[in-house]
Amino acid sequence: MTEPTDPTAPPVLPTATYAVTGATGHLGRLAVDALLRRDVPARNVFALVRDPEKAKDLADLGVGVREADYDRPDTLGPALEGIERLLLVSSPSAEDPVGQHTAVIRAADAADVGFVVYTSILHADDTENVLAPKHADTEDVLQGSGLPFAVARNGWYTENYTARLDDYLAHGEIVGATGDGRNSAATRADYAEAAVSLLTGDIADQQGYWELGGPAFTMAELAATITQVTGTEVTYRDISAEEFADALQSMGMDADTAGFVTALELSAARGELETDSPALENLLGRAPTPLVDAVRAARL
Ligand SMILES: NC(=O)c1ccc[n+]([C@@H]2O[C@H](COP(=O)([O-])OP(=O)(O)OC[C@H]3O[C@@H](n4cnc5c(N)ncnc54)[C@H](OP(=O)(O)O)[C@@H]3O)[C@@H](O)[C@H]2O)c1
Repeated sequence: MTEPTDPTAPPVLPTATYAVTGATGHLGRLAVDALLRRDVPARNVFALVRDPEKAKDLADLGVGVREADYDRPDTLGPALEGIERLLLVSSPSAEDPVGQHTAVIRAADAADVGFVVYTSILHADDTENVLAPKHADTEDVLQGSGLPFAVARNGWYTENYTARLDDYLAHGEIVGATGDGRNSAATRADYAEAAVSLLTGDIADQQGYWELGGPAFTMAELAATITQVTGTEVTYRDISAEEFADALQSMGMDADTAGFVTALELSAARGELETDSPALENLLGRAPTPLVDAVRAARL
């Protein structure tokens, strides 16, 4: 699989019609905001949501709000009518995400959408990460659809950690089983901005697979950054995978979920959440938000 080699900041096509799925979620909402910041008129932006009631603030901005439930294909055709470019934000569902994504891709094809950007996972086709198969399968569906597409293979969200800042500070430690595994996490806002760069650019330049991540850090480096920003000492304590899974269960997590979370921890330990690709920086046209700034912002 190739990664485009000339990812200079693309020109925006303000006159195209854009749709974003999952627009009431974190990433989708940030993508809508990024489109508007790029001077795409609100009337050309469509928020596809499963519950329009939750999108009143978007409607107030002049954004078109359309019902689009991945589980109800009858909603998808009308939602995609007249849409030229679609950002398909991956579903959080654990049940049949590939079926859900396939329904959207089929509807996009039927509606003659000209370009689809899908948010996947780092190294989707070449990793043992337990989250990867659903993304790899979706990428295959996209490839088979014949639609022009770009895949934004996003790394971990920095927010997966900064959302737990209070917990880290309260305990003075981060406990994990990632060893020295490095993680190229970046902020949701940066991934959203990058997805919009792909969506709004010259399709010929944007098509392909983009491995996206920020500067890599270990959990020990995360702990040191938290210490630096907050003045409260936080250290990283590495434990075995068995101890990690037991600790999750002792906090009330069921065995299956604990096994799943532990598998993600081991994936990080194997370095599967790391990339040295410059694609995120290239799409942003600037350095990704530094970890120290993300931690600082989470403290505000
Ligand atoms: N890279 C990472 O570290 C990481 C971490 C977590 C998740 N992810 C993936 O990235 C995606 C986006 O992340 P996020 O933080 O924005 O997640 P999020 O805030 O949970 O947003 C998920 C969105 O999907 C929508 N959705 C759920 N089921 C749907 C359905 N049947 N039909 C239509 N929409 C549906 C939700 O709608 P409602 O607002 O109505 O609930 C929500 O808007 C996630 O869905 C997940 O696949 C990545």
